[in-house]
Amino acid sequence: MKSLYGAAFFFFPQFISAIWPIPVSYIHGDKELWIREDVQIYYDLGTDSDSDVQDWVVFQSDDSNRVDDKTSPLTPKRMLDSNIHRALRTILDSDYSPWKFHERGWTDPSPSDNSTYITTLTLKQLQPNPENFEKALAGEVDESYTLRVSEEGAAMIEANSTIGLIRALTTFTQLFYQNPEQKDAYTQLAPVNIFDTPKFPHRGINIDVARQVIPLHLICHQIDAMAYNKMNRLHLHVTDSQSWPLEIPALPELAEKGAYRPTSTYSPDDFRNIQRYAALQGVEVITEIDMPGHTSSIWHSHPELIAAYNIQPDWDTYAAEPPSGTLKLNSKDVDAFLDTLFSDLMPRVSPYSSYFHTGGDEVNKQAYTLDDTVKSADPVVLQPLMQRFVDRNHDRVREAGLAPVVWEEMLLDWNLTLREDVVVQTWLADESVLKVVEKGHKALVGNYNYWYLDCGKGQWLDLPGSYSPFLDYCAPFHNWRHVYSYDPLTSIPLESQHLVLGGEVHIWGEQTDAVNLDRMLWPRAAAAAEVLWSGAKDEQGRNRSQTEASPRLGDMRERLVALGVGAEPLQMPYCTMNGTQCALGF
Ligand SMILES: *[C@@H]1O[C@H](CO)[C@@H](O)[C@H](O)[C@H]1NC(C)=O
Ligand SMILES: *[C@@H]1O[C@H](CO)[C@@H](O)[C@H](O)[C@H]1NC(C)=O
Ligand SMILES: *[C@@H]1O[C@H](CO)[C@@H](O)[C@H](O)[C@H]1NC(C)=O
Ligand SMILES: *[C@@H]1O[C@H](CO)[C@@H](O)[C@H](O)[C@H]1NC(C)=O
Ligand SMILES: *[C@@H]1O[C@H](CO)[C@@H](O)[C@H](O)[C@H]1NC(C)=O
Repeated sequence: MKSLYGAAFFFFPQFISAIWPIPVSYIHGDKELWIREDVQIYYDLGTDSDSDVQDWVVFQSDDSNRVDDKTSPLTPKRMLDSNIHRALRTILDSDYSPWKFHERGWTDPSPSDNSTYITTLTLKQLQPNPENFEKALAGEVDESYTLRVSEEGAAMIEANSTIGLIRALTTFTQLFYQNPEQKDAYTQLAPVNIFDTPKFPHRGINIDVARQVIPLHLICHQIDAMAYNKMNRLHLHVTDSQSWPLEIPALPELAEKGAYRPTSTYSPDDFRNIQRYAALQGVEVITEIDMPGHTSSIWHSHPELIAAYNIQPDWDTYAAEPPSGTLKLNSKDVDAFLDTLFSDLMPRVSPYSSYFHTGGDEVNKQAYTLDDTVKSADPVVLQPLMQRFVDRNHDRVREAGLAPVVWEEMLLDWNLTLREDVVVQTWLADESVLKVVEKGHKALVGNYNYWYLDCGKGQWLDLPGSYSPFLDYCAPFHNWRHVYSYDPLTSIPLESQHLVLGGEVHIWGEQTDAVNLDRMLWPRAAAAAEVLWSGAKDEQGRNRSQTEASPRLGDMRERLVALGVGAEPLQMPYCTMNGTQCALGF
């Protein structure tokens, strides 16, 4: 048996030993085992009051595992059945041969009469799920699991929650490869003994589906890839100044006039389907309506609510991006509008999430000089109005039983007093994380210099003259190694680290649409997923080695491609076929 850990010296694995993100402890051998369609799968969800089954159940592969009827309750059994089905299909339909990680001339093994097959996979839930486990607050669900595969072909998963079982299933699939000529799949890593638990409870991606409207199936596709990397939060930045694609039945004019075109919208069904599709895989959607800035798309249906709309050509005095515009800060009409908006939206969010993001980034004070309810850019005038604006929104969120999330500016620039339940999402600097936790608030990380995946594409603004090389504000492109080097706990004292819930990578939509979303996110989001699940430091407290990570992430990239995700390559096969050829400077 060999362990990935304990090797104090620098080493290249002889063959990839899979598993991304890396488990807390992972011991494996090198014996070959096969798996095929008739593997017996049993599970026991325990005596969970929340569950509709008790004792051992034989998993039956049928259509109900494949097609979610979208209306029946999201029970642990429903979730597990669907994820077992998904894991089996991932293993047996992948056609993923790891030839790129073997010497030239290597061929996949083929089963023979004396091949050992995995006969059983058993899954056992050891403890009842907490209430609302499918839409928990950070830290409420124990996602840990153990996974053992014996040389004789018995596989056993144990976890304290249904979500833990689901995480373990993704690990299980990553042990296997498939000779495209064969129906069955194989591992060469038996016996396997894994214990795993996440470092951070909040592991997310923020996708901007407002500046460019991303089709539903592609959002679901990202959810698959996220869950496969054990990420558990999808932050949907669903409205912005440029377009308002989210249909609000109580305010139909919002999307009718504010969307780019009538078909570029998310209907209530779409919205529910995204949330449910995610929840089935243990991913919680956090919806953001960014305000009071980033709202000018409301102007198309409600011009009376927006100040400083589309000032041209000097829009940059009033906003970070065109079109300028902000919700008026001291307006009864805005208040009534938000009452209607929240009463419509909150009941459609609360079945699937415990959070709602009220935005609050990049609010431009100058815009309020043109706000007839304020007519000032003086912080002394604006600050109390902003406090009241945000308090009201947060009360609306709390009334629905949800916890508010805000961008860091609300706390750190506007000095708002926020209640303890508010999660503060940082993006501007590492110091922001420290400042947030010093104020006793829960923080999300995602420093734009590391985790904004849209950076480095160059300017999208049309600029006069020669600004060559036309770099964007957050250039250069953050490659996976840079994304991977980011430690969410940088400079956070031990006693405050529990307040860092985790973080999100961000993909803003100025230059990312359906065509390049896959490759803008993957595999770089996977690099962040390992930081968030496994931590940025290894067992010995050292920064994780990119050299060790590189072939594993290469393997994950191939697995994503096998799942149909257009993830970019990390290296040439030449590098990974003989693990030392592309090393330099060791
Ligand atoms: C299976 O048997 C063949 C001979 O019949 C032998 O060459 C091979 O090593 C055996 N394989 C395993 C995995 O035991
Ligand atoms: C389950 O919870 C127990 C404590 O109640 C803990 O010791 C164990 O590590 C957890 N995870 C697994 C997979 O057993
Ligand atoms: C917040 O406090 C800082 C430091 O005291 C101050 O510079 C800033 O103007 C305040 N912001 C507002 C909006 O009042
Ligand atoms: C570890 O990574 C951090 C960035 O997160 C960096 O500042 C530090 O220099 C690295 N330490 C070593 C020993 O490379
Ligand atoms: C890698 O290349 C080196 C030098 O060309 C060679 O000695 C070694 O056997 C190769 N290793 C593998 C695993 O191909």
